Amino acid sequence: MSEANRSERLDAETIRRYEAEYVMTPWTAQKGLKPFVAVEGKGCWVKNPEGKKVLDFTSQFVFTNLGHCDDRVNAAIARQAATLPSVNSQWATEPKARLGKLLAEVTPGDLKKSFFSTGGTEANEGAAKIARWVTGKQKILSRWRSYHGSTMGAMALSADYRNWCAEPAVPGAIHILPPYCYRCSFGATYPSCDIQCAKHVEEVVRLEGGARRVAGIIGEPIFGAGGIIVPPDEYWPMVRAICDKYEMVLIADEVMTGFGRTGKWFGMDHWNVVPDIITMAKGINSGSIPLGATTVRPWIAEKFETMPYLHGHTYSGHALAMAAGVAAIEAYREDRLIERAAQTGAYLMERLREIQDKHPCVGEVRGKGLFCGIEIVKNRKTKEPIHEALMEPPRPATAKMTFLAKCMEEGVYIMAGGASVIMITPPLIITKEELDFGLEVIDRNLALCDAVVEK
Ligand SMILES: Cc1ncc(COP(=O)(O)O)c(C=O)c1O
Repeated sequence: MSEANRSERLDAETIRRYEAEYVMTPWTAQKGLKPFVAVEGKGCWVKNPEGKKVLDFTSQFVFTNLGHCDDRVNAAIARQAATLPSVNSQWATEPKARLGKLLAEVTPGDLKKSFFSTGGTEANEGAAKIARWVTGKQKILSRWRSYHGSTMGAMALSADYRNWCAEPAVPGAIHILPPYCYRCSFGATYPSCDIQCAKHVEEVVRLEGGARRVAGIIGEPIFGAGGIIVPPDEYWPMVRAICDKYEMVLIADEVMTGFGRTGKWFGMDHWNVVPDIITMAKGINSGSIPLGATTVRPWIAEKFETMPYLHGHTYSGHALAMAAGVAAIEAYREDRLIERAAQTGAYLMERLREIQDKHPCVGEVRGKGLFCGIEIVKNRKTKEPIHEALMEPPRPATAKMTFLAKCMEEGVYIMAGGASVIMITPPLIITKEELDFGLEVIDRNLALCDAVVEK
């Protein structure tokens, strides 16, 4: 950067002041915000203008799978920017062709053809429309505690405190109970539960009109923002069988769980389940340029050979995002990051179990790969949460918020999330030393949550 430009840079206070005056910050009341001002990122670390460095322990909003500022992704974007940054979404480009082919290679089973959007919300909007078109049916099931995006359709399918303000949203979104073993809605205990949560799916399908009325079901293979909730192993294979029986489309929302996050390419790979549609974003190009994708199996793609695919965006398949996606997938492969996430994840889980043993506020630790969570409670017996997920903001400050602020002060960023869960989802490149540093800060500061545990 030239000296002239450098002297025009804004200082941290001016950036904050301008943002407060001119920018709407998502998911929060605006008054009194004091956001971290980020100026530089490398690997797992981000710096502010004063030179304070924080360890990114949740990959921002679970997207910097390759860490910040990966040279290969940056170079690919720069090369594409120098030749052709964007064209209309009906023209073909080399990076789009290559990314489409790469996604067919890394997604499970015969998933093959992708529609590109600019994020996870749009990927899910596309999936829901496709499910309706190809089945000729209207209703789509989704699980309470899920998050599928912020537009009217995606939010209608979501089911946490954020969608209440948009209700009534889009008709035909039917919510069902989640497979949440720690707080089982059926009062049962795994494995003697007979997997009531999966049987419940079939019961609701039948009550909603069965094969004639229900188009499909959408779900995160492992719930993300809802609190890193891992279903029992039988759940997804049983849901797959229900979809086959009632001619429903199975949509896996892999926006968070995709691209190695859980130690496999996709979350559904843990159960060898092939969904009919996978939606993805975030890790697809490590969040470097906004990008989402909706990838479908051949039986769905074939329907659109003659039926027009009446869906799209100006920036579908934006060449910069495509180039970044190709580079990111090649980097995952080159650095064997999927395998590495599984190994680092096993170590992380060992350490989390030690933390659980030490802290009375820890109700449960769970997750797969580098997609882990610590559920914090006031009382291990009653499981009363420290931070009530089902409370509409503004909410009183909780020990979870004090804990997160203290971790940030001590150099570890953890995204807030809504549930009574501390999300640990660092970049897949994280080293053991970095992980240890972050976990020590967490371990020390969990005392703040222990302090509100009922004696
Ligand atoms: C599982 C899931 N689906 C969809 C979305 C929405 O994606 P985006 O924010 O890119 O629109 C998110 C965002 O966090 C998500 O976690």
